Amino acid sequence: MAITPKNIVLIGFMGSGKSSVAKHLGRNLGRFVLDSDEMIEKILGVSIAEFFEKEGEEAFRKKEARFIAWAKKSVQDAIISTGGGMPIFHNVRQMGFVVYLNSDFDSIVGRLDGAKIAKRPLFRDLANARELFECRREIYAKNADLEVDANQPIESIALEIVNHLDTKR
Ligand code: S3P
Repeated sequence: MAITPKNIVLIGFMGSGKSSVAKHLGRNLGRFVLDSDEMIEKILGVSIAEFFEKEGEEAFRKKEARFIAWAKKSVQDAIISTGGGMPIFHNVRQMGFVVYLNSDFDSIVGRLDGAKIAKRPLFRDLANARELFECRREIYAKNADLEVDANQPIESIALEIVNHLDTKR
């Protein structure tokens, strides 16, 4: 099924369900799924949390820029799940049609257990994470071609995205 030749790029705060929705969309649409964090971790050879500790956030953002440049040039017809900070520091529209998964902060906290928080250096302090969430919301919305309520089951989120793209054909 070829709804759009463009990549579908999922953005949103940490824990908003980007990876799960991406996998679901990939299965439904028969498209390959890329996760920017997973791919960056592979070239780093260490986890993102370790990289943040050793090299700092700025160095991580440079790796994100490299991912975008590569995806823009070499990837099409895929589902791309992005790290939560990517649209804050970079232009994600270069990679394709951007969908913002908009979740409220309390639902996000409910979704993230200790292990998931440990993997996310910018979520370790709850008060800071909430502040970051508030600062970023507007930027996510501004950089999206479609905004979807992410406080619903993954199947419904995926269906909303597919239906939207289908009517745009
Ligand atoms: C970050 C989100 C993380 C990861 C890194 C920084 C952010 O990805 O890229 O820890 O700045 O919001 P997830 O959104 O998949 O947690």
